[in-house]
Amino acid sequence: MNDSNVPENRKSEPERQLDREIRSLKELLDASKRIVVFTGAGISAESGIPTYRGAGGMWTKYDPDKYASIDYFRKDPSYYWRFFRDVRHDVMNEAEPSAAHRATVELERWGRLSAVITQNIDGLHQKAGSTRVLELHGNTTRFYCFDCRTPYDMPAVRRILEHQLPPLCEKCGGVLRPDVVLFGEMLPVDVIDEAQRETQLCDLLVVIGSSLVVYPAANLPYQAKLSGAKLVIINMDPTPLDSVADLCIHRSAGEVFPQAVEMCSAAS
Ligand code: APR
Ligand code: ZN
Repeated sequence: MNDSNVPENRKSEPERQLDREIRSLKELLDASKRIVVFTGAGISAESGIPTYRGAGGMWTKYDPDKYASIDYFRKDPSYYWRFFRDVRHDVMNEAEPSAAHRATVELERWGRLSAVITQNIDGLHQKAGSTRVLELHGNTTRFYCFDCRTPYDMPAVRRILEHQLPPLCEKCGGVLRPDVVLFGEMLPVDVIDEAQRETQLCDLLVVIGSSLVVYPAANLPYQAKLSGAKLVIINMDPTPLDSVADLCIHRSAGEVFPQAVEMCSAAS
């Protein structure tokens, strides 16, 4: 714990190390005018949503080639929908934003955050109050008909799911699908364009909770670095971009990010 009430000379070395990391992060935040926060499943782990990779990750229990690929969804949509109905839906629905989500909102209020770019599909950044969220992989609380593209919201899909699997469009009988990017699909062009623009313009990009192994999303932090921005990575496990980061913190997001942001706000 980072307890500022403990006198400096009574702190253990690990406590001092944590303090140093928080201070370095705070200094980078303070020195930046145009910050992008780039998030992955790790930021929502503290909201109770399991990550995909790493300890306890979803893909250690479920096969992504079946649960998250467009080819399999076309072949057998019930497979996805059963998983959504029985496993995923409640977890997503009941989750509340974490301290790191809320600190990201603070940064926006403080006037230096230009965008949140997220790979997450849980909508927790918006639920926390972030207003400029670029969702690279869509959002699992929105749905549409594969055939006629009619949009459906969560209550409508829940209602249909009570008596039908897979849920079918009430207008044309087509299969409903989540408004998420499945493996084998393109990312939404307008969102990726905007995300690329933000990463080229930012002066600091902070990665929070991503393994940085899924492309093209994982290109963005590197692009930011190539365009001259500083790069911070806050992730429990090492990532392929650790060696190019200006600051790399292998801890949980909630342990460092909210504290660093709080120190900034207090000082501004
Ligand atoms: N704080 C910080 N990092 C954490 C925390 C935490 N509390 N908990 C876990 N992590 C880290 C893990 O160490 C892991 O490296 O978060 C990372 C999450 O990695 P992934 O599960 O691979 O999530 P992400 O990078 O968002 O995945 C990218 O993969 O399957 C797809 O479409 C899915 O958008 C997702 C994409
Ligand atoms: Zn339809």
